[in-house]
Amino acid sequence: MKRMLSGIKPTGRLTLGNYIGAIRQFLEYQNDYELFIFIANMHAITVPIDPKELKQNTKDLIALYMACGLDSEKTTLFLQSDLPQHTELGWILTCHSYMGELQRMTQYKDKCAKQESGITAGLFTYPALMAADILMYDADYVPVGVDQKQHVELARNLAERFNHRYGDSFVVPEPIVPKVGAKIMSLQNPTKKMSKSEENPKGTIDLLDEPSVARKKIMSAVTDSLGIIQYDPENQPGLANLLTILSSLSNEPIDSIVNRFQGKGYGDLKKEVAEAVYNFLSELQAKYREIIASGKIDEIIQAGNEKAGKIAYKKVAKIKRKLGLSIQKR
Ligand code: AMP
Ligand code: TRP
Repeated sequence: MKRMLSGIKPTGRLTLGNYIGAIRQFLEYQNDYELFIFIANMHAITVPIDPKELKQNTKDLIALYMACGLDSEKTTLFLQSDLPQHTELGWILTCHSYMGELQRMTQYKDKCAKQESGITAGLFTYPALMAADILMYDADYVPVGVDQKQHVELARNLAERFNHRYGDSFVVPEPIVPKVGAKIMSLQNPTKKMSKSEENPKGTIDLLDEPSVARKKIMSAVTDSLGIIQYDPENQPGLANLLTILSSLSNEPIDSIVNRFQGKGYGDLKKEVAEAVYNFLSELQAKYREIIASGKIDEIIQAGNEKAGKIAYKKVAKIKRKLGLSIQKR
């Protein structure tokens, strides 16, 4: 069975964008692949974050993953900070990444362009830590949103560089980006990604938003004045975003939705999207509350850590031998 791995940073509350762009894929894959999903909390501290908030986000994230349908029998769910090998391999890979390579990362470049001060060295080198997360487990595939693809490509380059320099060390991973819903946009500013860090809360749907609040957010989503229902992300980004959300939640192809709404108004479409979102959140949150109440989170993470930890331990030992960092024979 091929191996697949992905992670999410617990930097804020999960959004519908995270669900459609990332988590939804994990569910499809957990039957066909050996799936490793982890909470990338070491990545969360690349920017300042309140410790209490980080802890709460982490627990919520685990509970939400499970509420979304991740099955701990099939998937290895673990916490990055519990396995010191991630930072260890992260350092080794930092020492094999070129400054130019890291400077080319768009996420870093964007952050530089936006804020002049407060950019940490961790934010700059984090793609090397991400490469460690991936290469540690010899993942064949890495499902990510389109914004993370460049980081997986760095992991590929590092794997190849390592294999070339030290002999067979890592599997070269491939990114997987979903076709529909690769990028869910802000409801208020549809040319911008829906993001945990958006200032305007009306633009973002949190998975833990009160469902009736989420419904209102959809109803007040920004569209355009053309008045024609068609899928045209360039000229009608708000409408295209609503169609993408509906298609993702209902599994109905966008073309078919567009056909059904011929001759109807944006209000009709919004109502259907709002209902789909309302129902989705209501069901999800009921499951989330059940999981929190069951007190199973600790148990599940412990089991996942143990399984992932064994692989990580062996991998780092092997790499240290290859680099001449271990002086013991075995
Ligand atoms: P982040 O929220 O930036 O930590 O991203 C976690 C995962 O969700 C990554 O795979 C992202 O690419 C994906 N993701 C985040 N926001 C969106 C969005 N608005 N649309 C699609 N995917 C997203
Ligand atoms: N950097 C990713 C993000 O910001 C999270 C992440 C960390 C990740 N390590 C990973 C994703 C390894 C996939 C594989 O969303």
